[in-house]
Amino acid sequence: MNITVVGGAGHVGLPLSIALADVSEKIRLTILDINQEVLDKINQGTMPFLEKGAEEKLKNIINRNLFTSVNSNVLTQSDVIIIVIGTPVDEHLNPLFSVFNKLLEQLLPYLKSDQTIILRSTLYPGTSQKVFNLFHEKYKINIHVAYCPERIAEGKAMEELYSLPQIISGFSEKALTIAKEVFGLLTNDIIELSPMEAELAKLFTNSWRYIQFATANQFYMLAEEKGLDFYKIYHAVTHNYPRANGFPKAGFSAGPCLFKDTMQLSAFSNNQFFLGHSAMLINEGLPYFVVQQIKKRYDISKMTVGILGMSFKGESDDNRSSLSYKLKKILEIEAGNVICTDEYVFDTQLKPLEEVLMNSDLLILGAPHKKYREISTNKIVIDIWKWMDSLGC
Ligand SMILES: NC(=O)c1ccc[n+]([C@@H]2O[C@H](COP(=O)([O-])OP(=O)(O)OC[C@H]3O[C@@H](n4cnc5c(N)ncnc54)[C@H](O)[C@@H]3O)[C@@H](O)[C@H]2O)c1
Repeated sequence: MNITVVGGAGHVGLPLSIALADVSEKIRLTILDINQEVLDKINQGTMPFLEKGAEEKLKNIINRNLFTSVNSNVLTQSDVIIIVIGTPVDEHLNPLFSVFNKLLEQLLPYLKSDQTIILRSTLYPGTSQKVFNLFHEKYKINIHVAYCPERIAEGKAMEELYSLPQIISGFSEKALTIAKEVFGLLTNDIIELSPMEAELAKLFTNSWRYIQFATANQFYMLAEEKGLDFYKIYHAVTHNYPRANGFPKAGFSAGPCLFKDTMQLSAFSNNQFFLGHSAMLINEGLPYFVVQQIKKRYDISKMTVGILGMSFKGESDDNRSSLSYKLKKILEIEAGNVICTDEYVFDTQLKPLEEVLMNSDLLILGAPHKKYREISTNKIVIDIWKWMDSLGC
């Protein structure tokens, strides 16, 4: 089978490409992407971002049955085309269908009848239908269209691609058969839905998680505002109490997916998704709350505040939509000075950990990286995850 993954150099596309090419030498997989710099890295067998267990596999398969290209003409040789480009929301927090329109115009000259396109990006409900209609009504080309959402967590792809059930949907028997054949290489646990059900299933998955984090964050703010220790209460609630399983700890919750997918669902419900909007206000409000709480105890206007961790979650190098950057912006107004560090994020503005530890009067944990557990400091530390427990902060 000849597969092309469009957007295959990205956080979702690359682990999927590696997993598929690794599972069978009979697959010839080409990554089609516009980012030549990242493709150069991939061609050298180097992962452009952190993804546990991916680089070892990449080194084995690159130029064996995994190839890269910036040229859309590779599509002419493809039986299956998996599309996994980014699907952002705009300045009104609405989905942007134009991203897909543009992409399809780019791909169209190289497509031919009877090819199968599997949409893998997270989509605003109804997008797969629009794509199908474009091919069949406007372009008059018999492309089979499937929608098979990705539900892995970044950093766990090489484990979860094989262990999570795969939701599949399609507009024809052939689309469904091909989707089953492709994802059946990774898992036997396949769930079939209609395309719009599958689009909603993905948005429900992420919104559910975002709302869970918001619930914990709201409880955290509620307790801390009253001068109570949230984690003492959290322990009492969750300890040996199965019905509280899955109650997350408080912490900055954002990143490239949860926020924007909750907003996509909101747009789909005509901005009547009150729970989703409340979750957004709570999660996005947490950095403000943290700064206000600190200001009650310290005059930060004359202090240097250090932020430890700029990625959107622990043990990740992905700083897209990270709330640590929002915290930094707030502190640039409120504090005397702000300096930031991260173990994994590449950002020329960041300082080495030692420099931040030495020059800060107060430290705020921005992302719970393992390394920060080893820190020994006599500086004030604000840790909403209670991650650096040993410090007793
Ligand atoms: N990041 C996650 O954890 C995650 C998880 C599940 C689903 N998703 C969804 O997967 C999709 C992709 O997310 P991502 O995090 O991998 O994004 P990403 O930005 O890391 O990757 C997108 C890739 O597409 C490439 N690209 C953009 N336009 C292109 C074009 N016209 N032709 C070819 N390549 C093009 C980019 O260069 C990039 O390499 C989104 O819809 C996202 O919501 C992401």
